[in-house]
Amino acid sequence: MSTFTLITGVSRGLGRGVARSLAAQGRSLILTARSGAAAASLATELGPTHRAFELDVTNTGQRTALGHVLQGTQLSCVIHNAAIYERSASPEAAARTMETNVLSPIRLHAVLLPLLTEDARLVLVSSGMGALHGYSQAIVERLQNTTTTAQVEQLVRDYLTATSSAKDATGSADAAERAGFSRDPYSASKAFINALARAWAHELPSRSVIAVSPGWVQTDMGGPGAPRPAEEGVARIVEATTAVQVRSGSYFEG
Ligand SMILES: NC(=O)c1ccc[n+]([C@@H]2O[C@H](COP(=O)([O-])OP(=O)(O)OC[C@H]3O[C@@H](n4cnc5c(N)ncnc54)[C@H](OP(=O)(O)O)[C@@H]3O)[C@@H](O)[C@H]2O)c1
Repeated sequence: MSTFTLITGVSRGLGRGVARSLAAQGRSLILTARSGAAAASLATELGPTHRAFELDVTNTGQRTALGHVLQGTQLSCVIHNAAIYERSASPEAAARTMETNVLSPIRLHAVLLPLLTEDARLVLVSSGMGALHGYSQAIVERLQNTTTTAQVEQLVRDYLTATSSAKDATGSADAAERAGFSRDPYSASKAFINALARAWAHELPSRSVIAVSPGWVQTDMGGPGAPRPAEEGVARIVEATTAVQVRSGSYFEG
Protein backbone atom coordinates (compact mmCIF):
# COMPACT_ATOMS: atom_id res chain seq x y z
CA MET A 1 0.00 0.00 0.00
CA SER A 2 1.43 3.38 -0.95
CA THR A 3 2.02 6.00 1.71
CA PHE A 4 1.31 9.70 1.34
CA THR A 5 2.96 13.02 2.17
CA LEU A 6 0.46 15.61 3.42
CA ILE A 7 1.20 19.32 2.91
CA THR A 8 -0.70 22.30 4.31
CA GLY A 9 -0.97 25.60 2.44
CA VAL A 10 -0.43 24.48 -1.18
CA SER A 11 -2.39 27.38 -2.73
CA ARG A 12 0.79 29.40 -3.45
CA GLY A 13 4.34 30.08 -2.35
CA LEU A 14 6.59 27.44 -0.87
CA GLY A 15 3.82 24.92 -0.21
CA ARG A 16 2.87 24.83 -3.89
CA GLY A 17 6.52 24.60 -4.94
CA VAL A 18 7.25 21.80 -2.48
CA ALA A 19 4.25 19.86 -3.79
CA ARG A 20 5.47 20.16 -7.39
CA SER A 21 8.99 19.12 -6.42
CA LEU A 22 7.88 16.10 -4.36
CA ALA A 23 5.44 14.99 -7.08
CA ALA A 24 8.31 15.10 -9.59
CA GLN A 25 10.22 12.75 -7.25
CA GLY A 26 7.33 10.29 -7.46
CA ARG A 27 5.79 10.88 -4.05
CA SER A 28 2.03 10.51 -3.58
CA LEU A 29 0.63 13.67 -2.04
CA ILE A 30 -2.30 14.85 0.00
CA LEU A 31 -2.63 18.47 -1.04
CA THR A 32 -4.49 20.78 1.32
CA ALA A 33 -5.30 24.46 1.01
CA ARG A 34 -7.72 26.97 2.44
CA SER A 35 -9.11 27.16 -1.12
CA GLY A 36 -10.35 23.74 -2.16
CA ALA A 37 -10.22 24.90 -5.79
CA ALA A 38 -6.52 25.77 -5.47
CA ALA A 39 -5.74 22.34 -4.01
CA ALA A 40 -7.84 20.61 -6.69
CA SER A 41 -6.21 22.50 -9.58
CA LEU A 42 -2.78 21.44 -8.31
CA ALA A 43 -3.90 17.81 -8.06
CA THR A 44 -5.17 18.00 -11.65
CA GLU A 45 -1.82 19.42 -12.76
CA LEU A 46 0.24 16.83 -10.87
CA GLY A 47 -1.73 13.70 -11.73
CA PRO A 48 -4.17 11.09 -10.47
CA THR A 49 -2.04 9.64 -7.63
CA HIS A 50 -2.56 12.84 -5.62
CA ARG A 51 -5.57 13.77 -3.52
CA ALA A 52 -6.80 17.30 -2.76
CA PHE A 53 -8.78 18.66 0.19
CA GLU A 54 -9.99 22.02 1.42
CA LEU A 55 -8.34 22.75 4.74
CA ASP A 56 -8.20 26.01 6.62
CA VAL A 57 -5.83 24.82 9.32
CA THR A 58 -7.62 26.97 11.92
CA ASN A 59 -11.00 25.34 11.17
CA THR A 60 -11.81 22.62 13.71
CA GLY A 61 -14.60 21.10 11.60
CA GLN A 62 -12.40 20.87 8.51
CA ARG A 63 -9.55 19.30 10.47
CA THR A 64 -11.89 16.69 11.94
CA ALA A 65 -13.51 15.99 8.55
CA LEU A 66 -10.07 15.50 6.99
CA GLY A 67 -9.18 12.97 9.69
CA HIS A 68 -12.38 11.03 8.89
CA VAL A 69 -11.98 11.06 5.13
CA LEU A 70 -8.33 9.95 5.41
CA GLN A 71 -9.12 6.96 7.65
CA GLY A 72 -7.11 3.98 6.40
CA THR A 73 -4.55 6.24 4.67
CA GLN A 74 -0.94 5.98 5.78
CA LEU A 75 1.08 9.16 6.10
CA SER A 76 4.85 8.76 5.88
CA CYS A 77 5.41 12.52 5.97
CA VAL A 78 3.50 15.62 7.07
CA ILE A 79 4.69 19.12 6.17
CA HIS A 80 3.18 21.84 8.35
CA ASN A 81 3.80 24.73 5.96
CA ALA A 82 0.76 27.06 6.17
CA ALA A 83 1.43 30.23 8.13
CA ILE A 84 0.71 33.95 8.25
CA TYR A 85 3.01 36.91 8.79
CA GLU A 86 1.12 40.05 9.79
CA ARG A 87 3.26 43.13 9.93
CA SER A 88 1.57 44.22 13.11
CA ALA A 89 2.04 43.37 16.77
CA SER A 90 -1.53 44.27 17.72
CA PRO A 91 -3.17 41.93 20.25
CA GLU A 92 -5.52 40.70 17.51
CA ALA A 93 -2.64 40.00 15.10
CA ALA A 94 -0.75 38.24 17.88
CA ALA A 95 -3.76 36.01 18.60
CA ARG A 96 -4.31 35.20 14.89
CA THR A 97 -0.61 34.45 14.43
CA MET A 98 -0.49 32.04 17.38
CA GLU A 99 -3.72 30.37 16.25
CA THR A 100 -2.56 29.80 12.66
CA ASN A 101 1.16 29.22 13.09
CA VAL A 102 1.34 27.22 16.33
CA LEU A 103 -1.99 26.01 17.73
CA SER A 104 -3.36 24.81 14.38
CA PRO A 105 -0.37 22.53 13.62
CA ILE A 106 -0.74 21.12 17.14
CA ARG A 107 -4.44 20.37 16.59
CA LEU A 108 -3.95 19.03 13.08
CA HIS A 109 -1.18 16.77 14.35
CA ALA A 110 -3.57 15.30 16.93
CA VAL A 111 -6.01 14.42 14.11
CA LEU A 112 -3.30 12.93 11.87
CA LEU A 113 -1.42 11.01 14.57
CA PRO A 114 -3.35 7.71 14.07
CA LEU A 115 -2.49 7.82 10.35
CA LEU A 116 1.30 8.20 10.73
CA THR A 117 3.55 5.33 9.74
CA GLU A 118 5.84 4.06 12.49
CA ASP A 119 8.84 5.90 11.00
CA ALA A 120 7.03 8.99 9.67
CA ARG A 121 8.87 12.27 9.12
CA LEU A 122 7.24 15.44 10.47
CA VAL A 123 8.42 18.72 9.00
CA LEU A 124 7.59 22.01 10.68
CA VAL A 125 8.34 24.99 8.46
CA SER A 126 10.10 27.48 10.72
CA SER A 127 12.13 30.65 10.11
CA GLY A 128 15.41 32.27 11.03
CA MET A 129 13.16 34.84 12.74
CA GLY A 130 12.51 32.20 15.42
CA ALA A 131 16.04 32.82 16.78
CA LEU A 132 16.04 33.50 20.52
CA HIS A 133 17.16 37.14 20.50
CA GLY A 134 15.51 39.45 23.00
CA TYR A 135 13.95 36.74 25.16
CA SER A 136 14.43 36.55 28.93
CA GLN A 137 16.69 33.81 30.25
CA ALA A 138 13.69 32.13 31.89
CA ILE A 139 11.76 31.92 28.60
CA VAL A 140 14.86 30.77 26.71
CA GLU A 141 15.23 27.92 29.21
CA ARG A 142 11.58 26.97 28.84
CA LEU A 143 11.87 27.00 25.03
CA GLN A 144 15.09 25.02 24.95
CA ASN A 145 13.99 22.40 27.48
CA THR A 146 10.58 21.65 26.01
CA THR A 147 9.66 17.97 26.03
CA THR A 148 5.86 18.05 25.71
CA THR A 149 3.25 19.66 23.47
CA ALA A 150 1.50 20.86 26.63
CA GLN A 151 4.55 22.96 27.51
CA VAL A 152 4.38 24.67 24.10
CA GLU A 153 0.66 25.32 24.57
CA GLN A 154 1.45 26.87 27.97
CA LEU A 155 4.07 29.14 26.39
CA VAL A 156 1.46 30.28 23.84
CA ARG A 157 -1.05 30.92 26.64
CA ASP A 158 1.52 32.92 28.63
CA TYR A 159 2.37 34.96 25.54
CA LEU A 160 -1.31 35.65 24.77
CA THR A 161 -2.10 36.46 28.40
CA ALA A 162 0.63 39.09 28.28
CA THR A 163 -0.45 40.61 24.94
CA SER A 164 -4.25 40.25 24.93
CA SER A 165 -5.09 43.12 27.29
CA ALA A 166 -2.91 45.66 25.45
CA LYS A 167 -4.69 48.54 23.72
CA ASP A 168 -2.56 48.73 20.57
CA ALA A 169 0.41 47.22 18.75
CA THR A 170 3.03 49.10 20.79
CA GLY A 171 1.34 48.15 24.05
CA SER A 172 1.17 44.52 22.93
CA ALA A 173 4.82 44.41 21.87
CA ASP A 174 5.85 46.08 25.17
CA ALA A 175 3.79 43.53 27.12
CA ALA A 176 5.35 40.63 25.22
CA GLU A 177 8.82 41.99 25.97
CA ARG A 178 8.04 42.48 29.69
CA ALA A 179 6.89 38.84 29.83
CA GLY A 180 10.23 37.76 28.35
CA PHE A 181 9.15 37.11 24.74
CA SER A 182 10.00 38.60 21.34
CA ARG A 183 8.15 41.82 20.52
CA ASP A 184 7.11 40.41 17.12
CA PRO A 185 4.30 37.78 17.06
CA TYR A 186 5.59 36.00 13.94
CA SER A 187 9.08 35.64 15.44
CA ALA A 188 7.57 34.30 18.66
CA SER A 189 5.42 31.84 16.70
CA LYS A 190 8.49 30.40 14.97
CA ALA A 191 10.42 30.16 18.27
CA PHE A 192 7.45 28.13 19.55
CA ILE A 193 7.53 25.97 16.39
CA ASN A 194 11.18 25.13 17.09
CA ALA A 195 10.20 24.16 20.64
CA LEU A 196 7.32 22.10 19.24
CA ALA A 197 9.76 20.13 17.08
CA ARG A 198 11.68 19.24 20.27
CA ALA A 199 8.45 18.27 22.02
CA TRP A 200 7.23 16.03 19.21
CA ALA A 201 10.66 14.38 18.91
CA HIS A 202 10.44 13.53 22.60
CA GLU A 203 6.82 12.36 22.43
CA LEU A 204 7.25 10.32 19.22
CA PRO A 205 10.61 8.54 19.51
CA SER A 206 10.10 6.26 16.49
CA ARG A 207 9.33 9.21 14.19
CA SER A 208 11.67 12.03 13.15
CA VAL A 209 10.78 15.67 13.48
CA ILE A 210 12.54 18.61 11.82
CA ALA A 211 11.97 22.35 12.07
CA VAL A 212 13.29 23.74 8.78
CA SER A 213 14.05 27.32 7.83
CA PRO A 214 13.58 27.91 4.10
CA GLY A 215 15.63 31.11 4.33
CA TRP A 216 14.34 34.52 3.26
CA VAL A 217 12.98 33.89 -0.23
CA GLN A 218 10.77 35.57 -2.85
CA THR A 219 7.18 34.60 -2.15
CA ASP A 220 4.19 36.74 -1.21
CA MET A 221 5.39 36.46 2.38
CA GLY A 222 9.09 37.02 1.69
CA GLY A 223 8.39 39.87 -0.75
CA PRO A 224 10.17 40.74 -4.01
CA GLY A 225 13.14 42.18 -2.10
CA ALA A 226 14.08 38.82 -0.58
CA PRO A 227 17.66 37.87 -1.49
CA ARG A 228 16.92 34.39 -2.87
CA PRO A 229 14.41 32.81 -5.25
CA ALA A 230 11.55 30.73 -3.90
CA GLU A 231 13.12 27.59 -5.44
CA GLU A 232 15.90 27.71 -2.82
CA GLY A 233 13.38 27.67 0.01
CA VAL A 234 11.48 24.87 -1.69
CA ALA A 235 14.69 22.84 -2.00
CA ARG A 236 15.43 23.22 1.72
CA ILE A 237 11.99 22.03 2.74
CA VAL A 238 12.19 19.11 0.29
CA GLU A 239 15.61 18.18 1.72
CA ALA A 240 14.15 18.24 5.23
CA THR A 241 11.63 15.56 4.23
CA THR A 242 14.41 13.00 3.83
CA ALA A 243 17.57 14.40 5.49
CA VAL A 244 19.10 11.67 7.65
CA GLN A 245 22.02 13.60 9.14
CA VAL A 246 19.69 15.73 11.27
CA ARG A 247 18.83 14.70 14.83
CA SER A 248 15.09 14.45 15.50
CA GLY A 249 13.79 17.60 17.13
CA SER A 250 16.43 19.88 15.71
CA TYR A 251 16.41 23.00 13.57
CA PHE A 252 17.63 22.59 10.00
CA GLU A 253 18.91 25.28 7.65
CA GLY A 254 20.21 23.01 4.90
N1 LIG B 1 9.07 33.35 2.28
C1 LIG B 1 9.99 33.48 3.21
O1 LIG B 1 10.94 34.28 3.09
C2 LIG B 1 9.91 32.63 4.44
C3 LIG B 1 10.98 32.72 5.36
C4 LIG B 1 10.96 31.94 6.50
C5 LIG B 1 9.90 31.07 6.71
N2 LIG B 1 8.86 30.99 5.81
C6 LIG B 1 7.79 30.06 6.11
O2 LIG B 1 7.53 29.26 4.96
C7 LIG B 1 6.16 28.84 4.97
C8 LIG B 1 5.51 29.19 3.64
O3 LIG B 1 5.63 30.59 3.46
P1 LIG B 1 5.46 31.29 2.03
O4 LIG B 1 6.63 32.16 1.86
O5 LIG B 1 5.11 30.29 1.01
O6 LIG B 1 4.19 32.23 2.36
P2 LIG B 1 2.99 32.72 1.44
O7 LIG B 1 3.45 32.88 0.05
O8 LIG B 1 2.39 33.86 2.16
O9 LIG B 1 1.98 31.47 1.48
C9 LIG B 1 1.40 31.14 2.72
C10 LIG B 1 0.58 29.89 2.51
O10 LIG B 1 -0.03 29.56 3.77
C11 LIG B 1 -1.42 29.43 3.56
N3 LIG B 1 -2.24 29.72 4.74
C12 LIG B 1 -2.24 30.81 5.53
N4 LIG B 1 -3.17 30.69 6.48
C13 LIG B 1 -3.77 29.49 6.28
C14 LIG B 1 -4.81 28.79 6.93
N5 LIG B 1 -5.45 29.30 7.98
N6 LIG B 1 -5.15 27.57 6.47
C15 LIG B 1 -4.50 27.03 5.40
N7 LIG B 1 -3.55 27.65 4.73
C16 LIG B 1 -3.17 28.87 5.16
C17 LIG B 1 -1.73 30.42 2.44
O11 LIG B 1 -3.00 30.12 1.89
P3 LIG B 1 -3.98 31.25 1.24
O12 LIG B 1 -3.56 31.35 -0.20
O13 LIG B 1 -5.34 30.67 1.42
O14 LIG B 1 -3.77 32.53 2.01
C18 LIG B 1 -0.55 30.11 1.51
O15 LIG B 1 -0.77 28.92 0.79
C19 LIG B 1 5.53 29.53 6.18
O16 LIG B 1 5.51 28.64 7.27
C20 LIG B 1 6.47 30.69 6.45
O17 LIG B 1 6.41 31.13 7.78
C21 LIG B 1 8.85 31.77 4.69
